[in-house]
Amino acid sequence: MSSNGPMTVAVVGATGFVGSSVVPHLAQAGHHVIAISRDGRRQPEWAANVDARAADVSTGRGLDAALDGADGVVHLVAIPRESKGLRFEEINVRGTQRVVAAAEAAGVKRFVHLSAMGVIDDPKLAYLGSKWRGEAAVRASKLDWVVLRPSLMFGPGDGFFNIVKTTLRYWSPGIVAIPGKGDARFQPLAAADLAIAVERSLTDASRTGSVYELGGPDWWTYREIVDEVMRVTGMKRLKLGMPIPLISALTSVTDRFMPIFPVSHDQISSLQRPNFTELDAFESSFGVKPRAMDLAYLRT
Ligand SMILES: NC(=O)c1ccc[n+]([C@@H]2O[C@H](COP(=O)([O-])OP(=O)(O)OC[C@H]3O[C@@H](n4cnc5c(N)ncnc54)[C@H](OP(=O)(O)O)[C@@H]3O)[C@@H](O)[C@H]2O)c1
Repeated sequence: MSSNGPMTVAVVGATGFVGSSVVPHLAQAGHHVIAISRDGRRQPEWAANVDARAADVSTGRGLDAALDGADGVVHLVAIPRESKGLRFEEINVRGTQRVVAAAEAAGVKRFVHLSAMGVIDDPKLAYLGSKWRGEAAVRASKLDWVVLRPSLMFGPGDGFFNIVKTTLRYWSPGIVAIPGKGDARFQPLAAADLAIAVERSLTDASRTGSVYELGGPDWWTYREIVDEVMRVTGMKRLKLGMPIPLISALTSVTDRFMPIFPVSHDQISSLQRPNFTELDAFESSFGVKPRAMDLAYLRT
């Protein structure tokens, strides 16, 4: 059953890659959107029914005021790797706990939390473990929550496919290193399709308490993704399989001494977790065929 009429929805992490699809989709569907980021800046493309507000999940600053008047919250803030001053525990775990507490205090009912496929309570996998603990805080709350666990997402401004492009362009003169056989499997989902799942999860009360694993219509191995990025960008490199233990050792060093290296030790470790699900997962949960992977936006 869907709720009647438009809602006021606070999107925490509105200015990021996923927020850039979620905010316009919610606004277009007629909802009033409170778009939250650290500096509360307004994006020029936002419609009149989007208000920008500032809050910081790592301190809680501004959160109570930012959620004032919201009937629903979409929580998108997380970091995929640690850097100076930005820790998984503070942003992905405690940040989520702060948003949950502020939502409960504000009397918000509906709460959609963006988790990630492969989350696990395993201290050896720092990002996936932190996403697990953030998700657990949502699931333990009194809110009417829905958890979405997407595989990799693609679209303009994405994190993953742009990093593959950067790796090819700046870190791979002639040869590109592929972790192991390159057979880690992913199920890329368009951020624009994820936005559909967010809106339905907010408005359909019968979804309360659901956890959805979501992916696009195809499985892609890492090797195939690299080939596709090369095809759309016109870059040609020889792919060279590099044993995982060797890349693990290398990234332990680059994490400490070369933090701009495109991949972290933790991200290599997380390749051991499955990042795909049933091919019809999205359609059977949300009644819409998800778009096939299209990386044409990487051409620019
Ligand atoms: N990208 C993927 O392929 C993928 C796959 C699976 C799951 N996810 C999940 O999707 C979610 C969104 O990811 P994304 O790729 O859109 O991330 P992103 O592009 O890095 O965006 C993060 C957003 O959070 C805001 N933010 C960062 N730190 C903040 C803080 N301390 N307080 C308040 N706001 C803060 C950023 O805005 P300001 O910097 O302007 O404050 C930005 O709006 C995350 O939970 C991620 O784990 C992503």
